[in-house]
Amino acid sequence: MTETLDIKITKTNNSRLAQTDFNNLPFGHIFSDHMFVADYADGEWKNFQIVPYGDIALSPAIASLHYGQSFFEGLKAYKHADGKVSVFRPNKNAARFNKSAQRLCMPNLPEEVFIQSIATVVDIDREWVPAKPNHSLYIRPFMFATDPFLGVGASKTYKYMVITGPTGPYFTKPLRVKIETYYTRAAEGGMGYAKSSGNYGGAMLPARKATEEGFDQLIWTDAKEHKYIEEMGSANAMFVLDGKLITPSTQDTILDGVTRNTVLTLAREWGYPVEERRVAVAEIIEGAKNGKLTDAFGAGTAATIAPVGSISYNGEEYFLSDPKEREFSQKVLKTLDAIRYGNTPDTHGWNYMV
Ligand code: COI
Repeated sequence: MTETLDIKITKTNNSRLAQTDFNNLPFGHIFSDHMFVADYADGEWKNFQIVPYGDIALSPAIASLHYGQSFFEGLKAYKHADGKVSVFRPNKNAARFNKSAQRLCMPNLPEEVFIQSIATVVDIDREWVPAKPNHSLYIRPFMFATDPFLGVGASKTYKYMVITGPTGPYFTKPLRVKIETYYTRAAEGGMGYAKSSGNYGGAMLPARKATEEGFDQLIWTDAKEHKYIEEMGSANAMFVLDGKLITPSTQDTILDGVTRNTVLTLAREWGYPVEERRVAVAEIIEGAKNGKLTDAFGAGTAATIAPVGSISYNGEEYFLSDPKEREFSQKVLKTLDAIRYGNTPDTHGWNYMV
């Protein structure tokens, strides 16, 4: 780690570590002792600080609350058997962070600030990284507009923060998913590829409706015709159809997922046929009917590799094979875990050691 950032560190006198039940870590509820905060004003990032995790005071007029100038990232730190801690591919998240910032007319954050803020906060709270299979420290960097001004226009001031929390699996069972044919997550020219907070807000009503119908997740389709698959809930959608790994190609409406990229890289190295292209709902349903769809999963940082148990479309439910019997997703999950938890050599340089 390069020590270039001048970070003012104030440690807590009141660690919550001892009271935290590491046997019960549902995603997103528990936060580690410290957080990173920086301010953007007068055209530069400043006031780099690590402070005890806690509430912050803000004007009720800040632009992010009213006009959605706000976005985030998600990545994870893993504890290795020898006690070392690594963060998985933070440089990819740093690059995507700035793509989101650019789309939302927000300032660029230098990659070294992104990486070092994460490395420093994870280092201080390294005892919070769970030492258990399928567990990790979830890292949530985010940026939001702070001008107390109600005119519609890009803010001149921002905050960048990093909070973290220990977590178990996001999904605990194979997913019952529904192909959405009415609501839209993202349209061409929109901001689907950015991790804009508003993308998630807009997904909540359709997701709730799907939950009320008994589904776990939605598969989003294109805004124009609802004929092509885009993403799956808050993860990228991946399929093994007729012996090939197939996933929608990244474009305006699709997030360039780090797990997605990692799975595609591994598959190509294994000599597996890979197709990044438009994926028609019709071919997936046909494959589910004739048995050529042998695997389907969501790929994401929070989701990791989340197997799909069944796919519903226009009121018909199609059941897929038992996820434990699936060759591709089992192999990819095992390989990913071995790399992230340091049980196999990291030949790609994906683990950033803290
Ligand atoms: C992540 O995988 O980090 C995500 O962004 C999903 C999150 C919205 C739960």
